[in-house]
Amino acid sequence: MGLVGYRLKTYVMTLSGQFKLNDKTALITGASQGIGKGIAFALAEFGAEIILHYRKDRPEAEAVADEIRKKGGKVYLVQADLSRSGSVAFIADQLEQLQKTPDILVINASVQIPVEWEKVTAEDFDTQVNTNFKSTLQLMQTFAPAMITNGWGRILTIGSVQQTKPHPAMIVYAATKSAVLNMVQNLAMQLADKNITVNNLAPGVIGTPRLEQEVPPVPERINKRMETPTGDIGDPKDCAALAVLLCSEAGRFITGQNIFVDGGMSL
Ligand SMILES: NC(=O)c1ccc[n+]([C@@H]2O[C@H](COP(=O)([O-])OP(=O)(O)OC[C@H]3O[C@@H](n4cnc5c(N)ncnc54)[C@H](OP(=O)(O)O)[C@@H]3O)[C@@H](O)[C@H]2O)c1
Repeated sequence: MGLVGYRLKTYVMTLSGQFKLNDKTALITGASQGIGKGIAFALAEFGAEIILHYRKDRPEAEAVADEIRKKGGKVYLVQADLSRSGSVAFIADQLEQLQKTPDILVINASVQIPVEWEKVTAEDFDTQVNTNFKSTLQLMQTFAPAMITNGWGRILTIGSVQQTKPHPAMIVYAATKSAVLNMVQNLAMQLADKNITVNNLAPGVIGTPRLEQEVPPVPERINKRMETPTGDIGDPKDCAALAVLLCSEAGRFITGQNIFVDGGMSL
């Protein structure tokens, strides 16, 4: 199709129509609570069929699934501990049994182990790097090929404001988030001509169960720097709104980007 033909096609679609996800299947990792759950609700609201991944909290995952079903959505559950080797293959097996192929991949699950940098153990390092970084590449390697074949796809990683403002007690976690962003930019470049976008949504402080974690105290001079200019914390819905844009046709010309949803904390 020539350029004029493409313009005509986009003009006949309404803007709201471009957010619809009715014929799409979305796999969201870590969707039993928090930001992943918010994104699952939002993608379902716009019509996507949801593959909801969780690690251990089956009852919470079931509750999220029930809520989506009550609103008329379709949802399936898959389980895996992404810190373990073979976990992505295990997810792929479960999807094969369900006969589902994701058009949209939201890589949201992560592990954050707050501890002073001198006390990080090799085990803490492996758990965070395997879950947050290694499994991200494996999820992309496993699910992007079908997107390439189908000529449409969306990959969204959930990063963190810590890519630019690392927390002193999260040295490994913060580094994994920066590493993922670099991988996103690399893959975005390679998939850009295949109608597949790859982006990173970087939250600031968002009200989720993760905030209940105990974190070692931070020196005052650093703590000041971690403040959010809006003076409040975000809601999973703040992230979900951007996720809908980036995962729909409306976001087709946005790729390789890192977008903060942080009330200005990254400034
Ligand atoms: N909340 C924030 O302020 C904030 C700020 C910046 C970035 N983020 C990022 O946003 C994303 C979501 O954060 P959140 O606050 O919503 O997290 P959360 O409330 O702690 O939820 C984490 C989710 O990931 C799953 N999960 C945990 N460990 C896993 C593992 N080893 N393998 C597979 N799944 C695992 C959990 O499943 P189970 O419940 O079944 O264990 C849960 O569904 C993360 O990538 C996080 O780094 C959050």
